[in-house]
Amino acid sequence: MAILVTGGLGYIGSHTIIELIKKGEKVIAVDNLSNSKITMIDQIEKITGVRITFYQVDCLDKEKLEEVFKENKDIRDVIHFAGSKAVGESCVKPLLYYENNLMSTINLLNLMIKYGVKNFIFSSSATVYGTPKRVPLYETDPIGGTTNPYGTTKLIIEGILQDVYKVHPEMNIAILRYFNPIGAHESGLIGEAPNGIPNNLMPYITQVAVGQRDHLNVFGDDYPTVDGTGVRDYIHVVDLATGHVAALEKLATNPGLVIYNLGTGKGTSVLELVKAFEEANNVKVPYEIAPRRPGDIAECYANCDKAEKELHWKATHTIVDACRDSWKWQQYFTKESKK
Ligand code: WQD
Repeated sequence: MAILVTGGLGYIGSHTIIELIKKGEKVIAVDNLSNSKITMIDQIEKITGVRITFYQVDCLDKEKLEEVFKENKDIRDVIHFAGSKAVGESCVKPLLYYENNLMSTINLLNLMIKYGVKNFIFSSSATVYGTPKRVPLYETDPIGGTTNPYGTTKLIIEGILQDVYKVHPEMNIAILRYFNPIGAHESGLIGEAPNGIPNNLMPYITQVAVGQRDHLNVFGDDYPTVDGTGVRDYIHVVDLATGHVAALEKLATNPGLVIYNLGTGKGTSVLELVKAFEEANNVKVPYEIAPRRPGDIAECYANCDKAEKELHWKATHTIVDACRDSWKWQQYFTKESKK
């Protein structure tokens, strides 16, 4: 049997494929290469020794996507990573985000129903909780009040999945709410390579450390947090990847629709992360305090007891591991880009 991974050459998709291969699973990857590179296939092969089956297909292209299902009658599970994910861009191009994220999911679900594929894992986000009334966040906490179109696409898709499940109770659907993924594979051969100026904290830190940018802007130091800077639940991308393997194992037991937070259960401030990075890698990250970024919240971290209890999964990497691996990857990426 095979696992179809959309967005398979992206940041989280590629790390998940490696963990699936390690488990002996057969993987079929689909990606439109809008935010990833074809060379990722070689990198995955370098790490695992396995060359994955790959289709350059946009999930908006129903006909081409259907070909993948027709040619691979052994698809048992679909892990859907493909989508647009830049919060700022989603505010400028909301229709693009609604079209890409909603339509790709709808196309996939229609094909899964047509071809009798029952197991679906969806990349949701902590952003569906909106502005938390309290932390840590539990899966049972209210969702809604998203502050940008990207987040709203995740919220709407969760609703679509609930509705589809009502009429297709034979399906098994895992909604995984990611907190803040950071880090890279310990080999340093794959990691996050954002286009343009990074929006997220860790890629910005690594670009400052490598000398590509002269300092980090810390967005606000007057939040009611440990040191005034924003607190998030940073999860190592390899832990996130193993979370998907655990969710797949859960789906094999026919649980119906299930929802899990994937985080560490621990909050880390911006300045704590900067300090951990400097100490782990013995490199300086100059920073300046800047105004708060509009739409940011003070604190966001998960309670992950449900995943631990039901998926027998827990994040095992530390912030220091993530800092070391992100730095390894940034150095490799910078060296390769100069060739
Ligand atoms: C983390 C902290 C910033 C950059 C976003 C999306 C979310 C998910 C992950 C996924 C905050 C501070 C950041 C910088 C800084 N999206 N910061 N200087 O905002 O928690 O979550 O990414 O695909 O849906 O909303 O993550 O990494 O942008 O910020 O001070 O240059 O770092 O203010 O406190 P965020 P982030």
